[in-house]
Amino acid sequence: MELVEAIKTRRSIRRFRDTPVHREVLEEILELARWAPSNYNMQGWYFVVVQGEKKDQVVQAMARHAPSWLGNVKNLFPEKMVGLMQHFFATMGGAPVMIFVYTDKTREQLSYMPLEMDPGYPSACAALQNLLLAAHARELGACWVQACCIIEEEISQILGVEGKMMVAGVPLGYPDQSPPVPPRKGDKVRWIGF
Ligand SMILES: Cc1cc2nc3c(=O)[nH]c(=O)nc-3n(C[C@H](O)[C@H](O)[C@H](O)COP(=O)(O)O)c2cc1C
Repeated sequence: MELVEAIKTRRSIRRFRDTPVHREVLEEILELARWAPSNYNMQGWYFVVVQGEKKDQVVQAMARHAPSWLGNVKNLFPEKMVGLMQHFFATMGGAPVMIFVYTDKTREQLSYMPLEMDPGYPSACAALQNLLLAAHARELGACWVQACCIIEEEISQILGVEGKMMVAGVPLGYPDQSPPVPPRKGDKVRWIGF
């Protein structure tokens, strides 16, 4: 898929077919994720790819906690949308696979950098965007779900991950929807000296 087309046609997918995704395809996507730029080329990202029983346990944990998070957003969105969010959080759209993106906690190694944010975090975000585009180029759908971090401790325990910081969960599979294109907002660029 041509790059410009891939960037413009990628959508967040929240409903998946139950068709399995072959491991070789996942390996290709993860290979492309790791070509992202990274802070000092430290490549402080880490991916956990999960399917089967452990994935189901993660989704069950999301389902258990969803009603309490959504209590906080009920006043912000229309009721129908809250219902859709609730369903998605409780099912992860039926995705056959989930990829959890973590970052190494690099702050200690880069302690001379006076940054609030751990330097590994934006690098992992760059890898995550690569991953979403690579998945789309293989006709897979995916969604960046930061909400998974709300129960980071519980999910990391299920996955057996220690000493890393979760960036997002990514449900992934063949899409069972073609969502409308959310319009892009203007007035985001300030030109200086042109
Ligand atoms: C940092 C970040 C966090 C996000 N977290 C969630 C989330 O928790 N749940 C969700 O359904 N979508 C989440 N999304 C997806 C956005 O809702 C989506 O990208 C946005 O609505 C634009 O739609 P598009 O991706 O189809 O262009 C997240 C996206 C980003 C970049």
